[in-house]
Amino acid sequence: MPASPLRVLITAGPTHEAIDPVRFIGNRSSGKMGFALADAAVAAGHEVTLIAGPVNLPTPAGVHRVNVTSAAEMYAAVSSNISTIDLAILCAAVADFTPADPAQQKIKKSGQDTMTLQLVPTQDILGSMREPLGFTGTLVGFAAETENLIANAQDKLLRKSCDFLAANDVSIPNSGFESDNNSVTLLSRNGEVFTASGAKRELATRIIDGITTPQT
Ligand code: PMT
Repeated sequence: MPASPLRVLITAGPTHEAIDPVRFIGNRSSGKMGFALADAAVAAGHEVTLIAGPVNLPTPAGVHRVNVTSAAEMYAAVSSNISTIDLAILCAAVADFTPADPAQQKIKKSGQDTMTLQLVPTQDILGSMREPLGFTGTLVGFAAETENLIANAQDKLLRKSCDFLAANDVSIPNSGFESDNNSVTLLSRNGEVFTASGAKRELATRIIDGITTPQT
């Protein structure tokens, strides 16, 4: 047990944005990285609330899980828990856009050759944590990048007022989305904490250690 267990909130998985009652916009996030972080945080003696998008994974032992589907539901679940947490790790692959006007009934093809969907931006949960949500604890973001990994991640860390940012290059084969493995550079405001590749569960332990060990 750590001297003082932290109350940790973790987001994981994708969001699904409804087009109509049977179709959605989603992405390839499996939830494995976020669930591994939840398991590692409990193993380190912390109290964990896991806000999970639609994934097919068992809840790690000792974790309080809240299931959500859309970006709007994830935002609401994060904001309703924010006053009781010390550390937030936002690992979910939240949709950046959502259909402006989801259809109430299944959309029919009815002879159309093309279809246009109007999308509007979702709320940026990570970017809202400090303002307007007022979170004052330790804030950890993730960055899924396919180019200029470190420069883009450093920029995101500062723009979103994070304390740490875990950058993963999701263009590496057998790594990142869906895989059991990942390749992560953990950045703090002082620079690089570590770079490592391997099993998500092992990286999760290193990330939890890195963000809960006081920086010198
Ligand atoms: O789920 P797995 O299959 O295990 O894959 C893990 C992962 C690759 C999804 C994970 O390691 C990862 O990189 N998660 C972040 C994915 C992402 O959406 O990255 P981004 O660079 O687009 O977003 C940056 C940050 O903003 C992230 O912390 C994200 O949670 C957050 N965000 C993004 C959009 C939004 N509307 N709200 C947010 O909070």
